[in-house]
Amino acid sequence: MNRLIFMPRLRILGICTSGRGKESNTYYLMKTAFDQIIDEDIEKEIIVASELNLRPCEHHYSINAKMCVHPCLITQIDKKDEMKKIYDGILLSDIVIFSTPIYWGNHSHLMQLIIERLNSLENANSVHNQVLIKNKIAGLMVLGHEDGYQHVVGSLMNFLTALGMIFPPYAYAAWVGESNEDTSHDRDRIEKDNRIKGMFIDLAQNTVDFARHVLFCKKCGNKLDYEHLSKIKRTLD
Ligand SMILES: Cc1cc2nc3c(=O)[nH]c(=O)nc-3n(C[C@H](O)[C@H](O)[C@H](O)COP(=O)(O)O)c2cc1C
Repeated sequence: MNRLIFMPRLRILGICTSGRGKESNTYYLMKTAFDQIIDEDIEKEIIVASELNLRPCEHHYSINAKMCVHPCLITQIDKKDEMKKIYDGILLSDIVIFSTPIYWGNHSHLMQLIIERLNSLENANSVHNQVLIKNKIAGLMVLGHEDGYQHVVGSLMNFLTALGMIFPPYAYAAWVGESNEDTSHDRDRIEKDNRIKGMFIDLAQNTVDFARHVLFCKKCGNKLDYEHLSKIKRTLD
């Protein structure tokens, strides 16, 4: 007997945080991976952070945690600030993949700026008892030239789980080359090496397949609606 299988529309957002924007190897791998995603009904978008006017966090949280609200005070006041595109992009997506190059063993400055501005979404839960990020799958793409990706992945996974994201198994793709100072062949190598590209393509596809399994009921099409335990506990207090 043929059973009806619902395939609701999925939305995947990539946020590329390389300082070199669309010229970067980080963007190249993210775009290549997104282009290869196989899914019957998916909407894809890549936000190139370096193309946006993003004001750094002003750390209102540190004055008084209650001042860190969503929409962020900067977003409310400064119409030129474009962080809203990232807030809305995340809130409207089922899957969010962040990509970053490694700079001195850490994620990029743009990734850090976005993390600090996203404090308003995390704070909505931890201080204002309002769960805004839920039932969303996250993935990571990290690119370097010689070392440091495990540290970067660990640090970003820590932030994203605090934000309320769900990770699939093998939630990141990362590549670094050799320990030398010659970056001039990296792009050529990445473009020609299907094994490198394959890791990033697999990561993107894996997040989509996982989202299909976890976010929607195959029989009825209903979307997962799981509230974080912390919120339920606070409601009971
Ligand atoms: C200031 C700076 C620091 C870097 N530090 C590291 C590092 O600690 N580890 C590493 O593997 N690569 C490091 N790199 C190399 C970049 O991560 C690598 O070239 C990467 O491909 C750049 O990504 P992009 O093409 O997206 O700009 C560094 C590059 C720059 C510009």
